[in-house]
Amino acid sequence: MVERKILITGASRGLGLAIANRLSTEYTLILHATREESFTGTIDPKHHILCADLSDPAELTAFCKRLKKEHNDLFGVINNAGVTFDTSLVYQPERDIDKMLHVNLKAPIMICKAVMKQFLLNKTGVIINVSSVVGEIGNAFQVVYSATKAGLLALTKSLAREVSALSEEHSIRVLSIAPGFIETDMTDGIPESEKQKVLKAIPANRFGKADEVAEMVAFLVSDKASYINGTNLNINGGIL
Ligand SMILES: NC(=O)c1ccc[n+]([C@@H]2O[C@H](COP(=O)([O-])OP(=O)(O)OC[C@H]3O[C@@H](n4cnc5c(N)ncnc54)[C@H](OP(=O)(O)O)[C@@H]3O)[C@@H](O)[C@H]2O)c1
Repeated sequence: MVERKILITGASRGLGLAIANRLSTEYTLILHATREESFTGTIDPKHHILCADLSDPAELTAFCKRLKKEHNDLFGVINNAGVTFDTSLVYQPERDIDKMLHVNLKAPIMICKAVMKQFLLNKTGVIINVSSVVGEIGNAFQVVYSATKAGLLALTKSLAREVSALSEEHSIRVLSIAPGFIETDMTDGIPESEKQKVLKAIPANRFGKADEVAEMVAFLVSDKASYINGTNLNINGGIL
């Protein structure tokens, strides 16, 4: 049987790498990062690498074009790549605001747009947008980041509804997941005093692991999750 093909953006580190490792044997993957050098481990030759700096509009356009041209047999997309620049909105440089808007929100929108025609023709496909707990509850010093993550929640729900308006019988699913505080490079730089404050608000009494998120994603992309659609799933140790 031909393996299903899944794109994972931001697959070089953190959640994306854990998801790639978890899906690697069952699926053929298109692994994305800003550049090829970001991948440091060995990669099974059955997988593909497709890189782009998603903060650059020209690179995003070229990436979507290649995706459509070279991978029109795609089954799934994990829109996982993301960036954060934590500071007060008052002091946030516009350059960083644009980067977060482009990588975290515009890129997932354009990637959904690029693959959806094919998904509608095939009447099957899965998209998982990696949002965040702060997309629901907000967070001081992450104003723009939180706004991009809230945007992904609305993108997910709206696109799932749009698919149902365009296609009567289909098995296309559009989902988002909202991780809480997961140990990766992104959370590494948070000062210890801040981490201790966050920890007090987590009923599980610990931070999450990238492998735990990967396990959830593996379930959601599989046919076992065939009736889960148009919704957001939390994985946050109970913080919400
Ligand atoms: N960690 C958490 O606690 C947490 C919680 C909630 C949500 N999330 C979300 O989960 C996703 C993954 O987070 P993470 O913690 O795994 O982050 P991470 O360890 O910092 O990894 C980020 C990934 O995104 C890629 N990336 C960064 N800038 C990019 C750009 N300009 N263009 C294209 N790709 C870019 C990186 O590629 P390079 O290696 O090439 O830089 C890397 O693969 C993000 O969307 C994040 O917002 C994380």
